[in-house]
Amino acid sequence: MTDLTLKQIRKAFGALEVIKGIDLDVRSGEFVVFVGPSGCGKSTLLRMIAGLEEATSGTIEIGGDDVTYAEPSKRGIAMVFQSYALYPHMTVAENIGFGLSLARRPKAEIAAKVQAAAETLQLTHLLDRKPKALSGGQRQRVAIGRAIVRDPKVFLFDEPLSNLDASLRAQMRLEIAELHARLKATMIYVTHDQTEAMTMADKIVVLNGGGIEQVGSPMELYRNPATPFVAGFIGSPKMNLYGGAVAERMGCATYGIRPEHIRLSGEAGTWQGRLRHIERLGADAILYLDVPELGEMIVRAEGETPFVPGATLWASPINGAEHRFAA
Ligand SMILES: Nc1ncnc2c1ncn2[C@@H]1O[C@H](COP(=O)(O)OP(=O)(O)OP(=O)(O)O)[C@@H](O)[C@H]1O
Ligand SMILES: [Mg+2]
Repeated sequence: MTDLTLKQIRKAFGALEVIKGIDLDVRSGEFVVFVGPSGCGKSTLLRMIAGLEEATSGTIEIGGDDVTYAEPSKRGIAMVFQSYALYPHMTVAENIGFGLSLARRPKAEIAAKVQAAAETLQLTHLLDRKPKALSGGQRQRVAIGRAIVRDPKVFLFDEPLSNLDASLRAQMRLEIAELHARLKATMIYVTHDQTEAMTMADKIVVLNGGGIEQVGSPMELYRNPATPFVAGFIGSPKMNLYGGAVAERMGCATYGIRPEHIRLSGEAGTWQGRLRHIERLGADAILYLDVPELGEMIVRAEGETPFVPGATLWASPINGAEHRFAA
C-alpha cells in the first residue's frame, strides 16, 4: 500500500522556484531518507508534506486522500525537528501529552498514551523531570514521544540528530531504526549524515537543486549511481571523480573509482603516484596520493598499511569497480 504520493510538486518563493516538479511514492511502513546539499530543498519538501508550506502546484496524497490543501492537523502526520522545541516549564509527561491536551482528549487516554510512548522510548523514569534536567538525547526522545502519541500515518524528521555529539547520534540512530521496526510506521527522514542515510533507509531520495537526482535502496545507489553527483554524495570517503581529458581517455565524460576499490603496490600497477598524506583510523587507513596522470586520488586501505608519506606507489582499480558516466 502507498502511504504518500507526490505528483509534480512545485514550490516557488516569489520568482524563485526551489522545488521543481517532484514525483515520489512512499510505501506503507517504508523508511525513506532525503539527502542532498544544503539549500537543495529537503526541508521545504518536508514542510510541504506536513502542510506547513503550501505547494505552488502539484498534489500530495497521504493514505489515499488528497491533502494538498488540508490543514497540518488533518494530514495524519507528525513532525520532529532539529530543535526539539520542548516547553521548558512543563514536565516530560506534559510535553509528550501536550498535543493531546490541546485536542481535549480525555485525561485517562492521555495518561495511557504518554505512558506507552515513555515505555517505547525508555523515558518512564524521567516523566516528572523538566527538559533542562535532560541530556540532548533524552530531549530528542521526548520530541519523538510527542510525535508517537499522535499515532500518525507518517512520521517526518528534519535532521533530528544533528545537534547531538557523535556517540549520542550513533545511539539515537539505532534507537530510531528500532522504533521504526517496532511501530512499522512510515517515516521520512532528512539528514546530511551519510551514515544515517546508508544505515537507516529502505529508500534514499537524492535531491539536487530542487529536483530528484536518483531514488533507490542504499546499496543500489552505492553500486549504480546514475550520475557523478550521486556517486560523489553516496559513499565515504567520496568517490574519486575525474572529468576533462582524463575521462576522455577513459572513453566517458566523468570517470569514477571509489577509494575502497583501489589496490596499492610499491612495485607495479595502473597509475603511478606519490603518497602525500596518510590518516590511520585503526581498522583502516585513508591515503592521499598525487597521481600526475589523474590528479589527487584517495585510497582506503584495510588494516595496517606499510606505506609512508613520500613513497612512490602504484594504484590499480579493482576489476569491474570503475564507473563511467556519460555526463
Ligand atoms: N520562506 C522562504 N522564502 C524564500 N526562500 C526560501 C524560504 N524557505 C526556503 N527558501 C529557499 O529555498 C531553498 C531550499 O531551502 P531548504 O530549507 O528547503 O533547504 P535544505 O535542503 O533543507 O537545506 P539545509 O540542508 O541547509 O537544511 C533555499 O535556497 C532557501 O534559501
Ligand atoms: Mg533543511
